[in-house]
Amino acid sequence: MTSALTLNTGARMPILGLGTWKSTPGEVTEAIKVAILTGYRHIDGAHVYLNEKEVGAGVRAMIDQGVVKREELFIVSKLWNTFHERSLVRGACEKTLSDLKLDYLDLYLMHEPMGFKPGESLLPLDAEGKVIPDNSTFLETWEEMEKLVDAGLVKAIGISNFNRSQIEAILSKPGLKYKPANHQIECHPYLMEEKLIDFCHSKDITVTAYSPLGSPDRPGAKPDDPSLLEDPKIRAIADKYKKTAAQILIRFHIERNVAVIPKSVNPERMKENFQVFDFKLSKEDMNTIMSFNRNWRICSMEWASNHKDFPLNTEY
Ligand code: A2P
Repeated sequence: MTSALTLNTGARMPILGLGTWKSTPGEVTEAIKVAILTGYRHIDGAHVYLNEKEVGAGVRAMIDQGVVKREELFIVSKLWNTFHERSLVRGACEKTLSDLKLDYLDLYLMHEPMGFKPGESLLPLDAEGKVIPDNSTFLETWEEMEKLVDAGLVKAIGISNFNRSQIEAILSKPGLKYKPANHQIECHPYLMEEKLIDFCHSKDITVTAYSPLGSPDRPGAKPDDPSLLEDPKIRAIADKYKKTAAQILIRFHIERNVAVIPKSVNPERMKENFQVFDFKLSKEDMNTIMSFNRNWRICSMEWASNHKDFPLNTEY
C-alpha cells in the first residue's frame, strides 16, 4: 500500500502520484496503464497539458478491465488561467471531466492565481509578448470552484503556484466555504520552499511537489542549467542507500509529508520511481539535501510577470 496524506476534507491522497506534464498524447495512454498496473493510484493532470483525453483513455481501460475501481484512484486536474471568469469555471471543469471520461475529480486545483483573457489561445500575449490579463480576481474564481464541490463535480479543491499572501487572502475571504485542501508547488532540493510548506501545513493545507526530478524534459532547458539527477552530491547519497538519484529525490518529499508527482512515460522508470517505500532517509541526510537549496526555479512564469497577481514577486 502506498502511504497517503489526509486532506482537510477527510479524503486520503496517495503521497506518490504520476505526473503527466510533458507526457505526449501518443505516449500517455500506455504510460497510465503501466502506472496503474505498477500500483500508482494518484494521477496528476491539467487541461493545459493538452493530453487529458489520452490520460482518460488509459484510466478508462484499467477500470473497464477490472484492474482498479474508480474509487481507488485519486485523479487531479487543474483549472487553466483563461477560464477564471465566473461564467467559465464550471464549463472548464466539465470539459476536463468529459475528456477524462469521469464523472468527478478527486481534486481540482486553480493552476495559477492569474486570470488570462479568455479565448482560443491558452496563452494570450500582447505585441510585446506579455500576457493579457482578464477581469477576474482569484477570490471570485475560488467562489466558483467552491460551487463545483457543491455540484458534486469535484471532491476537493485546491491551488497551485500561489504565494503566502495570496493563500492568506483566500483563507480570510469573507464567506469562505471551503479552504484549499492542497497547494501544488515546484519543489526539489534546489528549491526547498521550507517556509511556504510550513505555512501550508500550519493551515492544514497539504502540499504536492511538482518537477521533483528537475524536469529535464522542460521546454527551454539550457545545457548549463543545474541537473538534480546528475548532481554528484545527490548521487553519493543514492549510492549510500543503494538507490538511484531519482528515488532519493522522490523519497525526500515523502520524508517531509509532501506529496510528489514524478513524470515518466518509461515503464522501467515508472517502476523505479515507485520503489521508494522500502527505505528511509536519515535526519542527517535530509539536512544535507536541504543544504543544496539554491532557490533555482524551473517554472518562473516570466511571461506573466506583468500580471497583477504574479505570485513570484515576494520572497515566499
Ligand atoms: P521519461 O518520461 O522519459 O522517463 P519531472 O517529474 O521533474 O518533471 O521530471 C520528468 C523527467 O524526468 C522526464 O524527462 C522523465 O523522462 C525523466 N525521468 C523520470 N523518471 C526518471 C528516472 N527514474 N531516472 C531518470 N530520469 C527520469
